[in-house]
Amino acid sequence: MITKKITVIPGDGIGPEVTSSAIRVLDEVASSCGCRFEYQEVPAGGVAIDTCGKALPEETLEAAKASDAVLLGAVGGPKWDGLSGDNRPEAALLGLRKGLGLYANLRLAVLFPQLKDASPLKNELVENGVDIMIVRELTGGIYFGERGLAPSDGTLENGTAKGLEAFDVERYSEAEIDRILKVGFTLAMQRKKNLIVVDKANILETSRLWRKRTAEISKEYPEVSVEFMYVDNASMQLLRRPSSMDVIVTSNMFGDILSDEAGMITGSIGMLPSASLGDPGKPGMYEPVHGSAPDIAGKDMANPLATILSCAMMLRSSLGLPEAADKVEQAVRNVLAAGYRTADIAQGSEEVLGTKAMTEKVLKELRKL
Ligand code: IPM
Ligand code: MG
Repeated sequence: MITKKITVIPGDGIGPEVTSSAIRVLDEVASSCGCRFEYQEVPAGGVAIDTCGKALPEETLEAAKASDAVLLGAVGGPKWDGLSGDNRPEAALLGLRKGLGLYANLRLAVLFPQLKDASPLKNELVENGVDIMIVRELTGGIYFGERGLAPSDGTLENGTAKGLEAFDVERYSEAEIDRILKVGFTLAMQRKKNLIVVDKANILETSRLWRKRTAEISKEYPEVSVEFMYVDNASMQLLRRPSSMDVIVTSNMFGDILSDEAGMITGSIGMLPSASLGDPGKPGMYEPVHGSAPDIAGKDMANPLATILSCAMMLRSSLGLPEAADKVEQAVRNVLAAGYRTADIAQGSEEVLGTKAMTEKVLKELRKL
């Protein structure tokens, strides 16, 4: 029997609820495909600050490294908002990304046909569907560059003393750019063969290097049509013609921003999964795009579907079980088609379920497949 090791990081807020739903789904899948999943639950984020004194304990990173895949709920919450940068729960995310070498973040923004009225965009803009894969570089750029804060001796043009001065550096090497571009091109090949490289090449040197490397790498993927788009324009085009977009590949910060915008377009951030991947064969990390939602934590109100769909990505990309992944996605579609909703995606007439009841519906559909 195939046994796979999954590190589970429930984290904060609704994280524990949605990860325990997802584990039930994984177990159901395991029993039907003759494999076994071993889970090791470890702390990270706010809960780790409270119990171990730091957001990312060494044991957590070690457990993650030694597993086949990592399932993460969410980290953060108002309780830890007063802490400074490196001591915040979010530092755990950056540490896991860097520590596991997860340089490619895949965020899908899909408008489920059953939920198309949930999009805040006019119907005519989304009637052809939305299915955008955002590939965000995740371990480089300004989020990991040199940073500092120091008093400045200088003055403004009018003589006002500058006072404190802070800086954050955006730096990308050719090797870092090439490997993320290849992820983008590969995904484009598996999809509609359209790749948009988002940058700010009219200003930034890093962006100009991204463009140069794109020209080079694209020779290996002659079937993929490439478009360059400035990030400000991309944020508009996402609202104007989301249906025509296929794969977007971009830097860490631009991807952070655009993936939230794209998620909003679908109107159901509670539905969106993500995968963070490193080199092939290394453990990937899978998490819902939504955050820790402290306001509804512990109330059995959270939508577990984003985490369940993240498990589908895990089954496909890290566990080598693509049929199981298809089944999970089909089960989620069937549940939506049957009219079941959690509060965040309910429109009126449908039956609103809590986290546990929604999970039961998915399990029931899975057993039928
Ligand atoms: C995300 C989040 C994180 C990021 C924060 C919490 C550090 O916004 O995963 O998009 O910016 O990467
Ligand atoms: Mg973000």
